[in-house]
Amino acid sequence: MRRIILIGYMGSGKTTVGRALSKETGMMFYDLDWYIESRMRKTVAQIFAEKGEEGFRKIEYNMLHEVAEFENVIISCGGGTPCFFDNMDYMNSLADTIYLKATPEVLAAHLRMGKGKRPLLEGKSPEELEDTIRQMLTAREPYYSQAKHIIDVSLLDTASKIQDSVRIIREILHL
Ligand code: S3P
Repeated sequence: MRRIILIGYMGSGKTTVGRALSKETGMMFYDLDWYIESRMRKTVAQIFAEKGEEGFRKIEYNMLHEVAEFENVIISCGGGTPCFFDNMDYMNSLADTIYLKATPEVLAAHLRMGKGKRPLLEGKSPEELEDTIRQMLTAREPYYSQAKHIIDVSLLDTASKIQDSVRIIREILHL
């Protein structure tokens, strides 16, 4: 029985890598944000707007406990998931946790390209975006770095980043 959880800041490629790894291994893939949206029948942005970040974190905690009980799955969690409650300890207790680590510059570039709605980054100018990422990463790094494995995606070639990440994960976990 295998359980893999991908963590990392917004824009680090958790969902894309998780999906690609699932395709190659045949393991089921769950994205925690999508799971929350389908269970709550609301978007993450709506939940933030209605219940604030605190309300979202409680829901995220409960939903994490649902998906993390599934067996033979790959889960990508939200960028903030490891940083609240005892989520990081909980994930480490039942899964191979992998931190997709990237620099603020790389994350900002990915996020500028991405279309996804991120309430915590909404309305930021390009300069503000990078500053915010830098500050949040400093605060979050102590949690992220508790992952059992760390892959520095900034070091990987842009064109083959996803495939290289998948290959490295398969090597590390002997998949
Ligand atoms: C968040 C990241 C988002 C989502 C929410 C909060 C965060 O997920 O859970 O907007 O606090 O970093 P992604 O990392 O998948 O964008």
